[in-house]
Amino acid sequence: MTNNRVENAAENVTENPPTPLTLLGLGAMGAALAGAWLTAGHPLTVWNRTAARADALVGRGAVVAATAAEAVAANRLVVVCLLDDDSVAEALADVDLTGKDLVNLVTSTPDQARARAAWAERRGARYLDGGIMAVPPMIGVPAAGPYVFYSGSPALFEEHRTALAAPAGTRYVGEDAGYAALHDVALLSAMYGMFAGVSHAFALVRGEAVAPGDLAPLLSDYVTAMTGFIAGTAARLESGDYTKGVVSNLAMQVAGKGTLLRTAEEQGVSAELLEPYFRLMERRLEVGSGEEDLTGVVDLLRR
Ligand SMILES: NC(=O)c1ccc[n+]([C@@H]2O[C@H](COP(=O)([O-])OP(=O)(O)OC[C@H]3O[C@@H](n4cnc5c(N)ncnc54)[C@H](OP(=O)(O)O)[C@@H]3O)[C@@H](O)[C@H]2O)c1
Repeated sequence: MTNNRVENAAENVTENPPTPLTLLGLGAMGAALAGAWLTAGHPLTVWNRTAARADALVGRGAVVAATAAEAVAANRLVVVCLLDDDSVAEALADVDLTGKDLVNLVTSTPDQARARAAWAERRGARYLDGGIMAVPPMIGVPAAGPYVFYSGSPALFEEHRTALAAPAGTRYVGEDAGYAALHDVALLSAMYGMFAGVSHAFALVRGEAVAPGDLAPLLSDYVTAMTGFIAGTAARLESGDYTKGVVSNLAMQVAGKGTLLRTAEEQGVSAELLEPYFRLMERRLEVGSGEEDLTGVVDLLRR
């Protein structure tokens, strides 16, 4: 078990005999997971609130349960992939979970996951929380790199890691049930920061003789080239020396932000996505050092 790499890439997984399991939820993600478990030969019982969504799986060998209770009763390993934490509470409100191994893949907050773990344990189930780092077309396609963060009962993870690895790789991140959600949301938050910058960049060239399709590969390459910032920030946070290895210092970056803001104005583009970050850079310059980079912004964000 490790938390620094994805284990059990689905292509390497063999299980003899495959673990039977139940899956609650056949939305876009649940349907993809169901398909991958069936392809891997796992006997699968499914339930979905809107029953018709299970139709396509019947021909592939899935057993369709009429109720969530019936589906849960069918197998010890029960995977949940419903919309949100409220839908889990609603769907499992009156269901007997005694002796079940509940794996909750619903995207939630760390505290929701911890509360759901305590709720499951009070009801006699072992609990593992998961955060899916993939979109449905990546599920069951190891080359696309799908994986799921898991946290909670280590024994439960060890017991089912092979079955869990059929649709996507596994990455166990700790016994604290909230840690899968914590990692999941940390990555998603970074993703939205990247999306924000890309939206601003496309807005700048909109209306000019620059096709979005021509800017796209330039953006992809440049954003990829800047990812060294991630490891550098981690190293500076860990060492406590925010000037270590700095290649573009904060004083220069704060001075340069005016060019970005003026360009937005010239192009008739709102700077509302950039301004909050620039304000944090300025605040850090006021209390930190111009020889740092942007690492100190991390500390400013902590309340
Ligand atoms: N799709 C993605 O790209 C993606 C990526 C990573 C993680 N996830 C996570 O995976 C989970 C499922 O996402 P999805 O894409 O499959 O969503 P979805 O396509 O909207 O499906 C939602 C599922 O939840 C069920 N549901 C909603 N409210 C319910 C309730 N009160 N009681 C019982 N069932 C209820 C729906 O049943 P009905 O069919 O009856 O409506 C459906 O099965 C979410 O937590 C999502 O954040 C999704």
